[in-house]
Amino acid sequence: MNATPVIGVQGVHKSYHIGEVLTPVLCGVDLEIHRGDFVVIFGVSGSGKTTLLNLMGAIDTVDEGSIRIDGLELAGAAREQLIDARRVKIGYIFQFYNLIPTLTAIENVEMALELLGLDRAEIKGRSNHYLERVGMLALAHKYPDQLSGGEQQRVAIARALAKEPAVVLADEPTGNLDEHTAAGVVRLMQELNRTTGITFVIASHNKELAKVATRVFHITDGRLAH
Ligand SMILES: Nc1ncnc2c1ncn2[C@@H]1O[C@H](COP(=O)(O)OP(=O)(O)O)[C@@H](O)[C@H]1O
Ligand SMILES: [Mg+2]
Repeated sequence: MNATPVIGVQGVHKSYHIGEVLTPVLCGVDLEIHRGDFVVIFGVSGSGKTTLLNLMGAIDTVDEGSIRIDGLELAGAAREQLIDARRVKIGYIFQFYNLIPTLTAIENVEMALELLGLDRAEIKGRSNHYLERVGMLALAHKYPDQLSGGEQQRVAIARALAKEPAVVLADEPTGNLDEHTAAGVVRLMQELNRTTGITFVIASHNKELAKVATRVFHITDGRLAH
């Protein structure tokens, strides 16, 4: 294992203005994630899970502290570097899948790869490979509204994985799925983590994830604990 963490979070503080009131959400968060980890972050609704993921995903910026992703310090990074980090280093999986409704399953995956500037053959090859890995190749030409929630999430997982990013960030990926479908998605993510070695950081309420995680954290009162 490479000893340099793929994500290093140090002394991170983040508050939001809600009207006139400044509400602290993260109050000194430290976290190291290593290559191949399958990390789960638990916390009640409103505890700051999405906030932390969005900071690690270069979607939002810290008030204080440091976040390094695959060697890039996000705090001091230029806008172009942040856009590049989102495009190349990070795969994102959302609770509501966030597939583009006017594109088929395979076109959704291909589009993420087109943004990487890969050549056509590589895009086709990877899209087919990862849709196959998530069991969605037979439905590759369906549109999102022709797919169930679980199937859409499998496509979203393929889209995130196909980039072969430094880390996949998943924000409540099973939050919109029934228990049985959710269990299938958990098993799939674990299997992909084991076989591809891609690092996963998952914010969730799903207790099943605690059983398969390499490390589990809890956010309480703006801090992260084991
Ligand atoms: N963009 C925002 N503007 C204002 N407040 C926000 C924003 N995003 C989140 N918050 C607040 O920050 C707190 C943490 O939210 P969030 O990170 O979404 O928690 P979780 O994902 O654990 O449910 C909540 O109180 C929420 O209302
Ligand atoms: Mg959230």
